[in-house]
Amino acid sequence: MLFAKAEKRVYVNDVAVRDGFQSEPEFVPTEEKIGLINRLSRTGLRKIEVTSFVSPKAIPNLRDAQEVMAGIERVAGVTYVALVPNERGCERALESGVDEINLVMSIGESHNLANMRMTCEQSLEQFRRVMELVRGSEVKVNGTVATAFGCPFDGDQPVYRVLWAVEQYQALGMHSVTLADTTGMAHPRQVAELSAAYMDLFSKLPATLHFHNTRGMGLANVIAGVDGGINSFDASLGGIGGCPFAPGATGNICTEDMVHMLESSGFDTGVDLDRLLAIARDLPQIVGHDVPGNLIRAGKRDELHARPATA
Ligand code: COA
Ligand code: ZN
Repeated sequence: MLFAKAEKRVYVNDVAVRDGFQSEPEFVPTEEKIGLINRLSRTGLRKIEVTSFVSPKAIPNLRDAQEVMAGIERVAGVTYVALVPNERGCERALESGVDEINLVMSIGESHNLANMRMTCEQSLEQFRRVMELVRGSEVKVNGTVATAFGCPFDGDQPVYRVLWAVEQYQALGMHSVTLADTTGMAHPRQVAELSAAYMDLFSKLPATLHFHNTRGMGLANVIAGVDGGINSFDASLGGIGGCPFAPGATGNICTEDMVHMLESSGFDTGVDLDRLLAIARDLPQIVGHDVPGNLIRAGKRDELHARPATA
């Protein structure tokens, strides 16, 4: 039976300000980012990925990472996360007072080279140094296995290679892991198989799934993940997002669409959908173009229309 192994509570992490804004054609002003994060903080989201401490040459749109971190109002119960590629990024993130560092390595070597300009070995060496830097602090470290469901250059990645990366992260002492589908290559059967393999080996290491909707399989993949016992998902307000170093990358799964689907199916996300929708409806104005989300156009499934007048 569908959802037989699923927990009722599902955690939602929004990544729009990081994954979304990193690839916008126009720089989103710092005050807009801060305002958006402050509103998102009051919707019941578990985590918000607010920026990344990467090279400003690589991602000019997030060059204001320090200012964003300094400007936001922190709400109790929300974890404020920043993406970090290397030791330098970790130093900057710690100075800015993040709650959690999200270390990213693509297991597709070609994508890791394109995105991080490092081999996987070099990324892992940086992560070792990061773990030294955070030791003794309250800061948590999440390790993302990017291109876990396929690399846009190297193709499908064997399950053992995904699990190898998770093992490395666990051995380094990371607190949690994200399996990321960087360019929307994941399909539900693959998600079911990888979730089962993960839960068999690493059930004590909290896992998040991160999907992009590039080929329209995003929400189906969430269902496969929930069914496989995973209870935490990244998504992006309005469905914006994408990696600038992966050809053809498009938006993440849409947070409000995912929350609506999960709540309709009887899950408790802890998110106030009406508040989230109100924020999502303001997003096109912030980015200056339409966004892919469905719910901001269609409304919730119980928002009925007046019956047509009968003659
Ligand atoms: N934050 C800010 N500046 C950084 C930095 C960081 N985390 N890491 C390196 N730099 C700076 C260096 O100080 C150096 O500056 P300089 O030219 O003024 O001397 C410059 O960037 C080059 O440093 P180097 O170590 O040679 O980096 P690189 O050019 O090989 O790039 C990364 C490596 C990881 C910094 C870069 O590829 C990057 O930031 N990638 C992130 C991509 C991304 O965010 N993708 C989307 C999310 S998955
Ligand atoms: Zn992503």
